[in-house]
Amino acid sequence: AIEYTLSIIKPDATKRNLIGKILNRFEEAGLRIAAMKMVHLTQQQAEGFYAEHEGKAFFADLVAFMISAPVVVLVLEGESAVQNYRDLIGATNPEEARSGTIRHDFALNYRYNSVHGSDSPESAQREIAYFFVEQEIFK
Ligand code: CMP
Repeated sequence: AIEYTLSIIKPDATKRNLIGKILNRFEEAGLRIAAMKMVHLTQQQAEGFYAEHEGKAFFADLVAFMISAPVVVLVLEGESAVQNYRDLIGATNPEEARSGTIRHDFALNYRYNSVHGSDSPESAQREIAYFFVEQEIFK
């Protein structure tokens, strides 16, 4: 079925001028950009987005990283988009990511891992609504 997933191009990637190369990977993989914006997250926005990780050891550093530079937030559309996008970006830890995946090719480490992706259709729905209103998503 056609699905929608939320993608974030993270600060380590925007700072290294990798936005275009990463967008190209999305489009080459058959994912269509249905919504996109560049935003410098506030601490509150980043904490809210990652609320499920609150209390974990890496939470404060994760939030500090995510507000360290602008990010690009996107809604991607495609057949089985949630899983296809996860396959495209690769494992969270770039050392474990398969070659040819975005994280293998661009990410620096577990934290500076270049891209975020929704982990399920349910998360995708919640994460998309966190950043976009319906009129901003071009279906
Ligand atoms: P992301 O897909 O954005 O979802 C949560 C993020 O937390 C994850 O990517 C990683 O960048 C980060 N993260 C998860 N686990 C760890 C960890 N053990 N150490 C550092 N960062 C982590």
